[in-house]
Amino acid sequence: MAELVVEHLKIRLGGIEILKDVSLELNRGEITALLGPSGSGKTTLLRSVAGLEQPYDGRILVGGKPVFDGAKSLNVPTEARGLGFVFQSYALWPNRTVEANVAYALKLRGVAASEQATRVAKTLDSLGLGKLGHRYPHELSGGQQQRVAIARSLVYQPTVVLLDEPLSNLDAKLREEARAFLKELIMRENLAALMVTHDQAEALAVANKILLLNGGYVEQAGTPEEMYGAPKTLFTAEFMGSNNRLNGTIKTVSGQRAALDVAGTAFDGMARCGDKPGGAEGSGVIRLEAVHLVEGAGANRMQFELVTSMFLGSHWEHVFRGHGLNVRAHHRGALQPGQHWLEFPAEQLWIF
Ligand SMILES: Nc1ncnc2c1ncn2[C@@H]1O[C@H](COP(=O)(O)OP(=O)(O)O)[C@@H](O)[C@H]1O
Ligand SMILES: [Mg+2]
Repeated sequence: MAELVVEHLKIRLGGIEILKDVSLELNRGEITALLGPSGSGKTTLLRSVAGLEQPYDGRILVGGKPVFDGAKSLNVPTEARGLGFVFQSYALWPNRTVEANVAYALKLRGVAASEQATRVAKTLDSLGLGKLGHRYPHELSGGQQQRVAIARSLVYQPTVVLLDEPLSNLDAKLREEARAFLKELIMRENLAALMVTHDQAEALAVANKILLLNGGYVEQAGTPEEMYGAPKTLFTAEFMGSNNRLNGTIKTVSGQRAALDVAGTAFDGMARCGDKPGGAEGSGVIRLEAVHLVEGAGANRMQFELVTSMFLGSHWEHVFRGHGLNVRAHHRGALQPGQHWLEFPAEQLWIF
C-alpha cells in the first residue's frame, strides 16, 4: 500500500489556479523529489499534503486513510495527519538546547517526560547528534543545525516526511554531504519522503523518483535515469540537464526515429515531435556529454571551429562555432585550436 496518495489535486490561491491536476503515489523506502521552476507550485503541493493549504478538489490519503477529499468536504487538520515536516526556514529555538528543541514535538503531543527522553536520545543517536544534546543552536555548525531540524521532524516517528528545500540553507560542500546523509537516513528508517527542490542535480542525486511540475500539471514523472536520459518533452529535456540545441527543419518522422535538416546536414535522432509534418521547424536537443569528438566526416557529424575551452576538474568543456550554431561538448582532454569534427549520436539526439 502506498503511504501517501495524491489524486487529481486542484488548488487555487488568491483566485489563481496553482495546481490544476496533480497526482502521485509514495511508498516506504522512497524519496520522491518535487522538482520545478520557482513558482511552479512545489511548496503549495507540500503544504496541501500537510493540511496547511486547502485544495478545492481531489483526494489525499495518508497510510491508506483519506485526509482530504474535495467531493466529501473532508479536511483533516494538520496535527492529525501524522506527517513529519522539515521546512525551508527550519528555525530552531535559539534559547533551547538541542534536546529541548527535539523534545518539543513530543511535549505538544502530551508524551510522558520519561518516554520523551528515551525517544529524543534515540533520534539524536540515529542522526549522529548523540553527543550534542546539551548544546544550544549557536554552538552547532550549519550542517548540525540542519540535522536537528530533521531530528525534530522524525522524533514522533512519522512514516511520511515532507521536506521543503531542506538543504538550501547549507553551503555547496555541506549540501553534498547532507544529501548523502539524508538519502541514507530515509532508506535506513524505511520512510516515505516527499522532498521539494528546484535543483535538478539534487533531485537526481537524492530521489528514486522525480515529479517535474510545470504550470500546475505534472510535466513528466519517472526515475532519475528516465528523467535525465529519456525526457518526453522539450521542457523536461531542458530542465533536467545542460543541452545543445540544433535548430532545423524536420525531414521525416518514422516510428521512433526522425530526421532533422540542420544547415544542410541530415541528422538522425529519436522522434519526440509527435506527428509534425516534414518541412516543420524542429529542434535537436543533446546533452553536452553525449556529443563526441571524432576524427573525420560521417553520419550525424559536422565540423566546427573551437572557440574556447574550460577546464572543469574531472573533464573539459569545449565551445565550438559553425553553421550558425554554438555547440558545447564535454571531453576528457584539452584540444588544439582549429577545426574539429563532432558526432551527435542518434540514440542521444532528441528531435522535438
Ligand atoms: N497565499 C497565496 N496567495 C496567492 N498566491 C500564492 C500564495 N502562495 C503562493 N502563491 C503563488 O502560487 C505560485 C506557486 O507558489 P509556490 O508553491 O510557493 O511555488 P514553488 O514552491 O514551486 O516556488 C506562485 O506563483 C506564488 O506566487
Ligand atoms: Mg517553494
